Amino acid sequence: MTTVREVPVTATATEPAAALLRAYVDAWNDVSHNTWGHDDFVREPVEMLEAMRDKPYEKLVRLVAIDDAHADTPSDELPLEAVTGTGVVLLPQQDNLTWAYVGTTVRPAHRGRGVGGAILESCVRVARDHGRSTLMAETEHRVEPPEGPESLTAPTGSGRVPLDDAGVRLLTKRGWDLEQVARRSVLDLPVDPDALEEHRARAARAAGDEYRTVGWDGPVPDEWVDAMAELYTEMSDAPPMGGLRVRAGPLGRRTGALARGAAGPARHRVVDDGRAARAVGPARRLHDAPGGPARA
Ligand SMILES: CC(C)(COP(=O)(O)OP(=O)(O)OC[C@H]1O[C@@H](n2cnc3c(N)ncnc32)[C@H](O)[C@@H]1OP(=O)(O)O)[C@@H](O)C(=O)NCCC(=O)NCCS
Repeated sequence: MTTVREVPVTATATEPAAALLRAYVDAWNDVSHNTWGHDDFVREPVEMLEAMRDKPYEKLVRLVAIDDAHADTPSDELPLEAVTGTGVVLLPQQDNLTWAYVGTTVRPAHRGRGVGGAILESCVRVARDHGRSTLMAETEHRVEPPEGPESLTAPTGSGRVPLDDAGVRLLTKRGWDLEQVARRSVLDLPVDPDALEEHRARAARAAGDEYRTVGWDGPVPDEWVDAMAELYTEMSDAPPMGGLRVRAGPLGRRTGALARGAAGPARHRVVDDGRAARAVGPARRLHDAPGGPARA
């Protein structure tokens, strides 16, 4: 039987009581490395902890599955490897009050023994206990499968996932429907300077005098937080949503606030500022991978 515990929100990520948090992050990074084959998306305990602090607009619950051998070990004495899998439940507090995001990961070495199913069940229970009736979960894939009997196509008509993927199976077997597929592109750096200049010149011709480019490293400067939140909201509304019943407002607020204060990997943004309307136009975010190529 899989034991599931909730990760406490501690004052720091280094104190003994944060052992569950550190093990959660270790397991999560283990799965991220296995999924992508690189460490571009690894997270730090302090970053995960900050996201867990209660905010007016959302509550975040993190769960861990404990290896049977450690079922009786007190939480603050658990070694990293005692956590076999993780769960997360995101509960908006101001909007989308019937909606929740849930996520489950299991270390590759512990798969196929019911751990993932048990964590997912616990996540769903937490969401239900908070009155949520519409749930969203995600699976991640290195490559998009070709059309055919081996893949599942989103009802939007855009994007497919492999039917034999463990995450897809876990969800579809339990009656979850695929609604939307999002693609992530990779930009290997450095970019050929001639190609870059060609893009820049073409963009300048299209933009005319109406726009200027604003860029920064790290958190969004205060003067741009509201506009960036609005932009993220608009961007999240732009793709076809399938049957997803989530309004994008809180997403914008969340992303804006996170961008302002969160610790985490360096993120560089460049936006076009439509001068006339003081609105923020298209944005590019570069995620700077520690020790790896930058990905956009
Ligand atoms: C998806 C994921 C969480 C599954 O974790 P898991 O612990 O292997 O999940 P389970 O063991 O509960 O179920 C997986 C399979 O093992 C089978 N299984 C469950 N208990 C079992 C047992 N005691 N003995 C043998 N097989 C068992 C299940 O029936 C299931 O079979 P299926 O693959 O034919 O559907 C894991 O592969 C993962 O972390 N993937 C990456 C992240 C992801 O995609 N998450 C899902 C989105 S929420």
